[in-house]
Parts: sequence; structure tokens; C-alpha cells
Amino acid sequence: MSDSLYGRAVAAAEQAYAPYSKFLVGAAVRTHDGRVYEGVNVENASYPLGICAERAALAAAVTDGCRPGDLEEIAITASPCGGCRQWLYEFRIDEVTFRNADGEVVTRTPAELLPETFEL
Ligand code: THU
Repeated sequence: MSDSLYGRAVAAAEQAYAPYSKFLVGAAVRTHDGRVYEGVNVENASYPLGICAERAALAAAVTDGCRPGDLEEIAITASPCGGCRQWLYEFRIDEVTFRNADGEVVTRTPAELLPETFEL
């Protein structure tokens, strides 16, 4: 994982809309052919309707035509939640880099983040 992709995620986090939690999250995902898509968390007064940063980034990639297998790496400024781990697995991203609870930036595979994953 390059530092620059994590830097893109950190920069994107400034655009997060998180008036309820005040927890700003950014994500940046890179395709195998070098395209980068960013995402931020977008909260809502109806709390469950909010979207996480990494899912917003993946939705941007999908909107541009990306599909599972097209994505090489994603950087996230927070540890991905359980639901997002399922999304990361679905898209078969090679590497997931994130800032963990100890404040360390670590790299894991989706399978490491979600063992014995549900698949349809
Ligand atoms: N959040 C993310 O954006 N990604 C994660 O994987 C963890 C949680 C956001 C959702 C919510 O807006 C805020 O962080 C607090 O949970």
C-alpha cells in the first residue's frame, strides 16, 4: 500500500458530513489500472440511513463501471465496520489499509478482516 493512497483518504475525510457523530472518515480506492475514487461518510438525522466512507468510495467506483476484481487497494482512515468488511470481501480488493484502534496504519486482506465470510 502506498502512502499516497492513504493520504488521499485523509484529505477526503475533510469533506465528510458527520454532524451527529463528529467522526470524519475518508476512503480512497485504486483500481488495477490506476484510477482512484474517494468517499466519505455521509450521515443523516435518521441515523441508520448514513453511509460509511468506504462504501461511498466503492459506490463511486461502481458508478464508473468498476466490478469485483477491478480494485487493487483501498485506504480508510478508520477501522472498517462489519458491514463494510462484507463489501470489501465482495469486491475482492487485494489489500485494505486502515488506521486501527491503536492508531497504527495496518494492511490486511478482506479475508483476514472477515473470516468464514458469507457468500451467495
Ligand atoms: N464509519 C465509516 O465511515 N466507516 C467505517 O467503517 C466505520 C464507521 C462512519 C459511520 C458514521 O458516520 C461514523 O463513522 C460513526 O460511526
